[in-house]
Amino acid sequence: MNLLAIVGSARKGKATDTLVDRAIEGVLSRSPDCDVKKLYLIDHDIQYCRNCLACRDSQTKDPVADCVIEDGMGAIREDVLQSDALIFGTPVHMGYATAVMMTFLERICWTFAKPEGKVLSIHGCPIPRSSKARKAIIIVTSGIVPPLFRKFCDDATKLIRNTARDSLNARTVGALYAGDIEHRGVAYYHDSAFNLGRKLA
Ligand SMILES: Cc1cc2nc3c(=O)[nH]c(=O)nc-3n(C[C@H](O)[C@H](O)[C@H](O)COP(=O)(O)O)c2cc1C
Repeated sequence: MNLLAIVGSARKGKATDTLVDRAIEGVLSRSPDCDVKKLYLIDHDIQYCRNCLACRDSQTKDPVADCVIEDGMGAIREDVLQSDALIFGTPVHMGYATAVMMTFLERICWTFAKPEGKVLSIHGCPIPRSSKARKAIIIVTSGIVPPLFRKFCDDATKLIRNTARDSLNARTVGALYAGDIEHRGVAYYHDSAFNLGRKLA
């Protein structure tokens, strides 16, 4: 199994990164032979989507369409293509995924998906170009909002879940909202992240 862990935090070794590591440990506890690749989005040149729609309108039969932007996403698309399982990790920033995660997801959106049908001249919703079935888990960290009030703070999980499904043909098998870490501490969620990883394996 090829596991790709995607970290959308600006900080290495902090809350999101730590819990992603715990999830990876969980995966490896059940699938020791799993090939793991960890991707820190901040380390890569990921430019903004320009809305040229060349990828959306591409008629390619390949599992991924070309993008007009030549940047770090070229290599990242290859990593995503190779993956069987995905871990998405992001802090909550103002109720959403971080800007770097959003930028990444926008670039994923139509390169990995094509519009489903057409009504009159209106393009449909994205469906995956690839028939390869993947699995995903999502880890979201937040500083102050506890799990009880998650619905007021976490639009990131839904966004990632939908993009994983619609573009990457990835079914989300579990999600962790690690809330209020400023008070609870990251260690409070170690076991949950580990168990989530086991679920993914
Ligand atoms: C710009 C910004 C916006 C944030 N917005 C929220 C928020 O809406 N709700 C919240 O509980 N925490 C918020 N936080 C706190 C982060 O979610 C929290 O510190 C997170 O766990 C950091 O993850 P990291 O250690 O991986 O960087 C915000 C932090 C930043 C920098």
